[in-house]
Amino acid sequence: MKGRITIICENTVSTKGGLGEHGLSVFLETERGNYLFDTGRGQSLIPNLLHFDKDPLSIQKIFLSHGHQDHTGGLAAILELLGEIEVLAHPDVFSTRYNISQKEGKEIKRFAGLKFKRAYLESLGGKFILEKSYCQVTQEMFLTGEVPRKTSFEKGDARLFAESGGNLFPDPFFDDQSLVIESPKGLVLVLGCAHAGMINILEYVIEKTGRDQVYAILGGTHLDFASPLQVEETIAALKKYKVEHIGVSHCTGLKAASRLSAEFREKFFFGQVGETLMVE
Ligand SMILES: [Fe+2]
Ligand SMILES: [Fe+2]
Repeated sequence: MKGRITIICENTVSTKGGLGEHGLSVFLETERGNYLFDTGRGQSLIPNLLHFDKDPLSIQKIFLSHGHQDHTGGLAAILELLGEIEVLAHPDVFSTRYNISQKEGKEIKRFAGLKFKRAYLESLGGKFILEKSYCQVTQEMFLTGEVPRKTSFEKGDARLFAESGGNLFPDPFFDDQSLVIESPKGLVLVLGCAHAGMINILEYVIEKTGRDQVYAILGGTHLDFASPLQVEETIAALKKYKVEHIGVSHCTGLKAASRLSAEFREKFFFGQVGETLMVE
């Protein structure tokens, strides 16, 4: 694929302007059309698309990495503009989910899932294509579907729960998936939050594509909520892949991003709103 990948929603902005919000969305321009991966939290998607001269009406398909509201919150706004369009996701994208933390001895429970009902999104034109497995979504792009958890050091975020039948349980994030682009320079991996673990995802994509040249990794890594040991083990594992561009951000957090920047130097960039990666 030849094209350009632009970070449209992210927690922070650079001198290029746009709005920051805690969330993620990525705009993909290819020779065969434009696509949207995730939709941010809801407030910055449309303003930022317009700010960076990306025509929302050019979007041909929407891909969702998982059901968290900081990735799905802009879905209603974009569907209101686009009308009928395919939205590709894992069936568990509609799970009821919470973020539960403790503060001063008190439990704080926040709803963290998709904030719109499926029927409402469908009434706006969203045509959900729900798939659990690795699948081709355009001529050059693939979605991973469920990613097997194999590494010993990638632990889930203990604050994140799902609910079913009135029972709360640690969120298994079966719906966590990433976008894969097979480019002549190697694989380009766009992560949502990488709840499956960035190294698990990399290993799975290498297995599925039969290619081990990784050109770039963008998106959220969730390392902000991992132990310092997990961050170090992830960095050690990542070094084996000889990735040329690491443009992660969002739930990577500034501490882990600083560690990645120190380790990968000129290969690292912070994937803020407006940052781009050319794929040739
Ligand atoms: Fe996120
Ligand atoms: Fe998430």
